[in-house]
Amino acid sequence: MLEQVQSLLSQAKKQIEECQDLKVLNDIRVEYLGKQGKITNLLHSMKDIDKEERPKAGQLINSARQEIEGLIKDVQIKLNEKVLEEKMANEKVDISEPSKVIEKGEIHPLHKVFDKLIDACVSMGFTVLTGPEVEYDYYNFEALNVPKDHPARDMQDTFFITDNILMRSQTSSVQVRAMQSMKPPFKIVSPGRTYRADSDATHSPVFHQFEGLVVDKNVSMVDLKSMLTQLLKMLFGENTKIRFRPSYFPFTEPSVEVDATCPSCGGKGCRLCKNTGYMELLGAGMVNPKVLEMSGIDSNQYTGFAFGPGVDRLAMVVNKIPDLRMMFENDMKFLEQMK
Ligand code: DAH
Repeated sequence: MLEQVQSLLSQAKKQIEECQDLKVLNDIRVEYLGKQGKITNLLHSMKDIDKEERPKAGQLINSARQEIEGLIKDVQIKLNEKVLEEKMANEKVDISEPSKVIEKGEIHPLHKVFDKLIDACVSMGFTVLTGPEVEYDYYNFEALNVPKDHPARDMQDTFFITDNILMRSQTSSVQVRAMQSMKPPFKIVSPGRTYRADSDATHSPVFHQFEGLVVDKNVSMVDLKSMLTQLLKMLFGENTKIRFRPSYFPFTEPSVEVDATCPSCGGKGCRLCKNTGYMELLGAGMVNPKVLEMSGIDSNQYTGFAFGPGVDRLAMVVNKIPDLRMMFENDMKFLEQMK
């Protein structure tokens, strides 16, 4: 028995000392001390030895068991430390390492212009109002004095959903919604997306407009001109001058086309303004009394002015972009340049 115990003990000691792995260590524990383990089996076989020998043999086996248990515990602690050290070495942070460059997002050039327009108009007391892009013919045309057979419809050929519902061709539709939902006096602007069946270097089927409408007593062309001068100065700089040219829109009377001194050359004449010194920027005018009346506003009491720049055009001018489509392609190289 003594020999058997000693040989098992030395075998176990060797295995434990050489063990480098926690899982293997557990296997060793099971091999010797588990339910069917070698030492456990020895304890079971005690019944076969002489009664007088039993206490001694029991002591022997138990002390071998304790020794193996102790050794396993020691090695277990060492191996656990090793695992921890390896883990810490792997997770070491090199604080001198240069950090990764995080690419910051940027507001799209078009939205920068929208933001500027909105900020400028809000500072002048305008309320921002939005309207639906899928619109009734009534708001987009009829109530703006463009009946079904009006030739001005040809210039705004858009996408019809049904006979009476279309993708709005102008944000002027929001003028009607404002006049029918607000009591004068009011000043509103309406930024948004618009649609037309058009596509070339200066036209896109989806584009953007910014509508403005003021309705009050005694509003005149002078107010329109001073307000637009103020707005375009905020956009292009203090030295900007504007000029009105006669034009035609069914919903304004009189109507004007508004030009501003070229932001690139300041009015001297350059390639961008085709040497004219001016850039055509927006349509505007005094609200046609018929349009006021159609939306229930007494045109004997109230007058109004309206204006509607194409925002894509403004963004092209501000950023000297030659092709409108670049604004919608979202080519990262182009957007990087616009930062
Ligand atoms: N809606 C017009 C267009 O798309 C632009 C415009 C002209 C808007 C005159 C206005 C305005 O508010 O008064 O061509």
